[in-house]
Amino acid sequence: MTEASFSIALVTVNSARLRRYLLCRPRFFAVEYAINPWMDTTTEVNTDRAVSQWETLVDTLRSLGHTVDTLEPEPGLPDMVFAANGAFSVDGVVYGARFKYPQRQAEAAAHEKWYRAGGWEFVVPTQTNEGEGDFAYVPGPGLVLAGYGFRTDTAGHAEAAEALGRPVISLKLIDPRFYHLDTALTVLDDDTIAYYPDAFSPGSQTILRRLFPTAVIADEADTLAFGLNSVSDDRNVVLSAEATGMAEKLAERGYTPVPVDLSELKLGGGSVKCCIAELRP
Ligand code: ARG
Repeated sequence: MTEASFSIALVTVNSARLRRYLLCRPRFFAVEYAINPWMDTTTEVNTDRAVSQWETLVDTLRSLGHTVDTLEPEPGLPDMVFAANGAFSVDGVVYGARFKYPQRQAEAAAHEKWYRAGGWEFVVPTQTNEGEGDFAYVPGPGLVLAGYGFRTDTAGHAEAAEALGRPVISLKLIDPRFYHLDTALTVLDDDTIAYYPDAFSPGSQTILRRLFPTAVIADEADTLAFGLNSVSDDRNVVLSAEATGMAEKLAERGYTPVPVDLSELKLGGGSVKCCIAELRP
């Protein structure tokens, strides 16, 4: 690198903070039931393609320097690839998931077993909540953003606040296409988020505007392309290759978009973030 490009990099680009992630190979991925508007049980799913796209995602995360841990996939749990939904961890404390739909409920035990084996402090949930699908952590202010309206109950928000000792801001999701918080909002760095305002109720939009006046604002096309279902290390933002408009918006703000094709998993209603649970020891 020349001296000039080095100094430019210093002023314009955040440095990446290395992360630890938990993912689950889509070995048994299929669309056997429909619990969100993206799922159509008559669509043929190519499981081999899902696996190879997922492997590219894992390689991408590792090439950025991150540590990837994996959870063993189980037959009969076709959505297990969406590892984000299995728990939510902050500062070494894990608030377990309790899935809304019976088809996914057995996934929670696999996550619990994994965290307990790793010595994490695990809080067993009594309320319906779908882990990082509906919870996002913003490190700067140290707060949790939490979605409700489709999957996670607000009682789960209160339980998470108690378990994690962090303020939890409840945000109401109103568009069934964006049924989890992580389809409509993403954390880009310690203090910056990106979100699609129309996915939220008017009051929740006001809350987001007040808390995050400098947020990156996504539009409907960005959100439909799963451009907000992304994972950032403060600098690199791994996102769906389809989300070209979102990639441009991120680049304008100094982030480096890293596109990955997860078209097969989109048939299950998920993309990059849905496949990744961040581990916060
Ligand atoms: N088919 C899964 C479901 O509807 C997709 C989950 C996507 N995960 C996410 N974090 N948004 O539950």
